[in-house]
Amino acid sequence: MLHFALRRSQNIHYQHVDVNKDARAQAKGQQPSVLWFTGLSGAGKSTIANLVEKKLHAQGRHTYLLDGDNVRHGLNKDLGFTDADRVENIRRVAEVSKLMVDAGLIVLTAFISPFRAERRMARESLAEGEFIEVFVDTPLNVAEERDVKGLYKKARRGELKNFTGIDSAYEQPESPEIRLDTTQLSAEQAADAVIDALKLQGIIG
Ligand code: ADX
Repeated sequence: MLHFALRRSQNIHYQHVDVNKDARAQAKGQQPSVLWFTGLSGAGKSTIANLVEKKLHAQGRHTYLLDGDNVRHGLNKDLGFTDADRVENIRRVAEVSKLMVDAGLIVLTAFISPFRAERRMARESLAEGEFIEVFVDTPLNVAEERDVKGLYKKARRGELKNFTGIDSAYEQPESPEIRLDTTQLSAEQAADAVIDALKLQGIIG
């Protein structure tokens, strides 16, 4: 017996709203966008994203930072680190980012986001020019050397499975809008480089 359709979204239609993205963006006087930070664990994504947000906030921009470790304590606390869970983690983050862009915000996301396909999905869910991929380029040996959270040591001892760069893949961005070489730049310099790039690309005046 059929109780209900599994694909419930088939019977759902888009509801028109009058206050739209343009109206909200205009009220905030900014161009909404997503700064998508990607890189290995310990690459410096959260540190740099946090500095960039501070700088944008100081300029009166309306921002929101979605950080992997924080989102995994709430919205995504049911997810682990298998490939399937990471795909779902990024799918949800892409959807939330899209809603926040619709709300008129400049969104910063700091997730390893190891797979190209999901980063592409996040990019394609937004309008042209709204998705800015920021590759925090830190080689594995440097991230492992820093090992701020001690997780690389754990992974090498075999106490942590599916660790990115050790026994789980990281697919580097092929043409990110911004690449930050953290072996050459301090976190502060990297954040300034992002702000400069945003000015160049017309995201901020
Ligand atoms: S992602 O791959 O799904 O994008 P996400 O950015 O949300 O990862 O979470 C990464 C953070 O979770 C790391 O910074 C690290 O602190 C922690 N972590 C715990 N287990 C793992 C693991 N197996 N691989 C990578 N990071 C892990």
